[in-house]
Amino acid sequence: MTAPWTARVLTLYPEMFPGPLGHALTGRALQDGVWRLEARDIRAHATDRHRTVDDTPAGGGPGMVMRADILARALDAAREGAEDWPALVLSPRGRRFDQPLARRLAAAPGLVLVCGRFEGIDERLLEARALEEVSLGDFVLTGGEPAAFALIDAVVRLIPRVLGNPESLEEESFTSGLLEHPQYTRPPVWEGRATPEVLLSGHHGRIAAWRRQEAERLTKERRPDLWRAYAADRGLDDPAGEAELSDAQTIAAPGEPRKDDGE
Ligand SMILES: C[S@@+](CC[C@H](N)C(=O)[O-])C[C@H]1O[C@@H](n2cnc3c(N)ncnc32)[C@H](O)[C@@H]1O
Repeated sequence: MTAPWTARVLTLYPEMFPGPLGHALTGRALQDGVWRLEARDIRAHATDRHRTVDDTPAGGGPGMVMRADILARALDAAREGAEDWPALVLSPRGRRFDQPLARRLAAAPGLVLVCGRFEGIDERLLEARALEEVSLGDFVLTGGEPAAFALIDAVVRLIPRVLGNPESLEEESFTSGLLEHPQYTRPPVWEGRATPEVLLSGHHGRIAAWRRQEAERLTKERRPDLWRAYAADRGLDDPAGEAELSDAQTIAAPGEPRKDDGE
């Protein structure tokens, strides 16, 4: 039997793990051995009595910097037997984490993930070990651990047998290059707001068309960057998203009067 997908996390706070990953779907899959989590203490590789892992920034300035030599020892040990796994460092300077990268990571046998703290990591470690820096977004966290929870969560839910209903992966945001359509559940009318009638029609073809149109409308409105890539991929005429959605106009957006009411 092949080993389960494994996240090997280097951190100064191993006790933070599994944290939120130990709950709900990811937690159940962890318990069932569908994936593995190894939180490794960087401090175990320190060499002095005080188990120091950081030092003052060269050139001066506030805060502390994680030392290359200590982290290299931790990283080299973590990569033993995992030479072909991607090794990433969490960093606000990195390339933006996204669904294609989550898919790429889920397809590998595992992942080595370095969580930074303080002002970050000595640049020489990143260069010497050719580590890719990955960011969760344009904001600064206190450390890499909260970012690791989010990144690992996004990867683990793509591993077969983690999700109760894998079909949900097919329709959700980013899978098709679009944001997801709006969702509704019972009751059919709430505070005077009705669920779009098409969703109650039982007509699978019309429901699918409505969802696609809504996904396109939302993507155009909210993420013109995604829309342009989607439109260009499919050779659509309107890569800039400037024209109205002709098909979508036949079915109203949520909260607006429906033009198909009379059907
Ligand atoms: C306080 S931050 C260091 C910020 C750094 N001085 C800078 O300005 O780029 C400490 C650690 O938190 C993690 N971190 C902070 N923001 C992040 C983000 N947006 N994405 C991923 N990791 C982040 C990184 O591991 C980073 O080394």
